[in-house]
Amino acid sequence: MEQKPIKKFTKDFTQQEPIADEAIDRVMQILRSGRIHRYNVAGGELSEASLLEREFADYLGVKFCLTCASCGMAMYLALKSAGVKKGDTILCNSFTLAPVPGAIHNAGGKIELVEITEDYTVDLQDLEKKAADPSTKWFLISHMRGHLTDMEKVVDICQRHEVVLIEDCAHTMGASWNSRKSGTFGKIACFSTQTYKHLNSGEGGLLTTNDPEIIAKAILYSGSYMLFDRHLSRPKTDVFEQFKKQIPNYSCRMDNMRAAILRYQLKHLDNQCKRWNERYQLMEQELNKIKWISCPRRPQEEYYVGSSIQFSLNEQGTSAIQEFISKLLQRGVEIKWFGNVEPVGFTSAYSNWEYLGALPVLENTDRILAGMCDMRIPLTFDLDDCQLITQIIADVATEVFENQSNS
Ligand SMILES: Cc1ncc(COP(=O)(O)O)c(C=O)c1O
Repeated sequence: MEQKPIKKFTKDFTQQEPIADEAIDRVMQILRSGRIHRYNVAGGELSEASLLEREFADYLGVKFCLTCASCGMAMYLALKSAGVKKGDTILCNSFTLAPVPGAIHNAGGKIELVEITEDYTVDLQDLEKKAADPSTKWFLISHMRGHLTDMEKVVDICQRHEVVLIEDCAHTMGASWNSRKSGTFGKIACFSTQTYKHLNSGEGGLLTTNDPEIIAKAILYSGSYMLFDRHLSRPKTDVFEQFKKQIPNYSCRMDNMRAAILRYQLKHLDNQCKRWNERYQLMEQELNKIKWISCPRRPQEEYYVGSSIQFSLNEQGTSAIQEFISKLLQRGVEIKWFGNVEPVGFTSAYSNWEYLGALPVLENTDRILAGMCDMRIPLTFDLDDCQLITQIIADVATEVFENQSNS
């Protein structure tokens, strides 16, 4: 009998789209001018960083924005500017990535992790319980891999317990809950423009808020060299007066080249989000047909941006999952696994953050992460690529898991 040819996928899961010529041209102009630093402007010139701040604040519908060196630094500045003191308890959902506990550690906070649900969102019962502790003043919610929790409920819990909400929107730029943009629910929001995010400047972060004192402090912390009047997205200069000698310079600004690349991309963000979702929805539909796999439920209120996809392998043991992942890799499909005991690439579980000391065990999180797989969906993949990838996953799942159940 003739053997069916083994399908292989050959594209790279880390390959983003190229930077557009228009943005490259602008970067070349900046390079030729030599004025790369955000405060290095010729008479009357507005820096790219300042313009991006105004444009991103307008996009989000908030008053203020500050560009930063990374989202990790934006989160650090957010915590410092909100008033976190050494030893303060900061709640954070247990499904997130290393820069989030890193920012909490950097700000001197004590992390308290909140359980997650089967849909990878925050467990609201656990949040309610932990927010009710009178020593808890902060909640840094991480909309990890773009999964939005019911934000009205989150805000309600935080308000009732007087907990300040800060949003990590590294994976939800362009997303919304009940038509309200992600990043407008908390007192401060932080976004990433690192290569794998929805805008790509290699590295970069954006901090947004409506609070004039918070933005003034964040601008000072970011390292404004007392040139805060060159920002367009800022309150009156007298708001800075009370803090300018009190706040250290942590030097984590963004430069004009990155800002120029981002200004161009921002104009196309909403369309890019639609392209991601076409790919996500095709994959979700195909993956959900596979007996051993389930994708999380996405509530109607959520407008997500499917730049990656996660799914659970139902009731499979460690060795079967390892075999599944390695066989997929042999066929060119790169899947990350949050159940891995060792942190690999862009995955890590809370048990790996040993620098935080011994953290209480979270049974639900452990069970959910044990079966959770994660796959990037770069826009360099077209719909046929997505179809082929899910077909390979279906073939490999049958090969590995069917054998397991027969043995
Ligand atoms: C959930 C989450 N939050 C924050 C960040 C931090 O982003 P950055 O790399 O810009 O510091 C990342 C980075 O991958 C992330 O995945």
